[in-house]
Amino acid sequence: MLLALLLLPWAWGALAASPPVTPASVTLRLLHIDVFHNASSTDMQGMALLGDLETHSMDCSTCEIRFLQPWARQGLTPKQWQDLQLLIHRSLFSFSRTVNTIAQHHGGGYPFVTQGSLRCDLHLNGTSRRFCDAGVNGEDFISFDADTGKWVARRGDKLALYAQDVLNQDKSTASVIQFLLRTCVNLIKSFVQHGNESLERQERPVAVVFARAPPPAGTPAPVLLICRVTGFYPRPVRVAWLQDGEEVGPGGRLNSSGILPNADLTYQLRSSLAVGPGAGHSYACRVQHSSLGGRSLLIPWEQSRPWGPGLAVGITLGVVAVAAVAVVLWRSRRRDYQDVRPGQSSP
Ligand SMILES: *[C@@H]1O[C@H](CO)[C@@H](O)[C@H](O)[C@H]1NC(C)=O
Ligand SMILES: *[C@@H]1O[C@H](CO)[C@@H](O)[C@H](O)[C@H]1NC(C)=O
Ligand SMILES: *[C@@H]1O[C@H](CO)[C@@H](O)[C@H](O)[C@H]1NC(C)=O
Ligand SMILES: *[C@@H]1O[C@H](CO)[C@@H](O)[C@H](O)[C@H]1NC(C)=O
Repeated sequence: MLLALLLLPWAWGALAASPPVTPASVTLRLLHIDVFHNASSTDMQGMALLGDLETHSMDCSTCEIRFLQPWARQGLTPKQWQDLQLLIHRSLFSFSRTVNTIAQHHGGGYPFVTQGSLRCDLHLNGTSRRFCDAGVNGEDFISFDADTGKWVARRGDKLALYAQDVLNQDKSTASVIQFLLRTCVNLIKSFVQHGNESLERQERPVAVVFARAPPPAGTPAPVLLICRVTGFYPRPVRVAWLQDGEEVGPGGRLNSSGILPNADLTYQLRSSLAVGPGAGHSYACRVQHSSLGGRSLLIPWEQSRPWGPGLAVGITLGVVAVAAVAVVLWRSRRRDYQDVRPGQSSP
């Protein structure tokens, strides 16, 4: 409760300064992953994703569509969902028959995995694009050109060219795919409208700065500073290091883990900076994210002092300092977070 009250001014500040969240485009993907154990046994699974949000799943022991978001039934009537389920069910079985035909023509190769992806992008200006492709064992294999209605092999080998020929003679599969791509565009428009709150979800990053294995006093090895940023959503984020207030440019001193997913549909990232020993510079990690509005999180590196001869004095001073910091923190939180600097622009 107290924490919630302390965070209130922050929340207000961020809301007031927050620019509208308007991603340039949204993507709806229908994926199916099929494991072909042998000519008579296939496991099929499907899912739909709006951006990075899972909206539907399908397990083809029953091939029933499961709705994973409260708004995932929007866009079609219950009857149309039933028909779509049946159509996908039939197409997947016809797909697995075709794949087995192609595989057997080329001497089997079981077991293998195919990944089918049907995707539509809806741009901010109302236009959309459609894609459909398939991979085998994690590599591009063939794609469907939605404009011409033709399959195009993505590899030059005999197997891919043979698959291209077989699929291009299959007019009914092509028309089912065109239908699914049109459905994709209709669904994405509906989801963008009804799922707006999920799409616009904002989770604020939490960041800490620490030194990895700080070397003992007097050793000349460079220190590696780590900035760990986690719990943010959506994915785009900008993390930079400041040395004496100036942004450290790209180069060998910087390293980053890249953006990694957390289990709760937030993201994390680690950025490190190699700094020279005891050079008397100040360092801080700066995080910019849409959830912070136009502000930035600024986390300075608090370099710990080595234990000197005045240990007892140090401890006493330390206790006083902790108390002082606590008071300052408490006061500054009441005012507003001190590590938030207004007026810095977001990415
Ligand atoms: C096919 O694979 C399934 C699952 O691995 C196995 O249970 C079955 O016996 C296999 N059938 C043949 C004909 O090899
Ligand atoms: C709509 O936006 C997309 C992506 O930003 C762009 O590629 C496309 O050319 C735009 N189309 C029109 C008609 O403005
Ligand atoms: C989402 O859309 C609904 C209806 O289209 C609207 O009433 C609501 O205010 C929107 N919510 C947000 C957060 O934009
Ligand atoms: C960057 O970090 C990764 C692990 O996070 C490590 O494997 C790699 O060697 C580092 N690169 C440099 C140049 O330090």
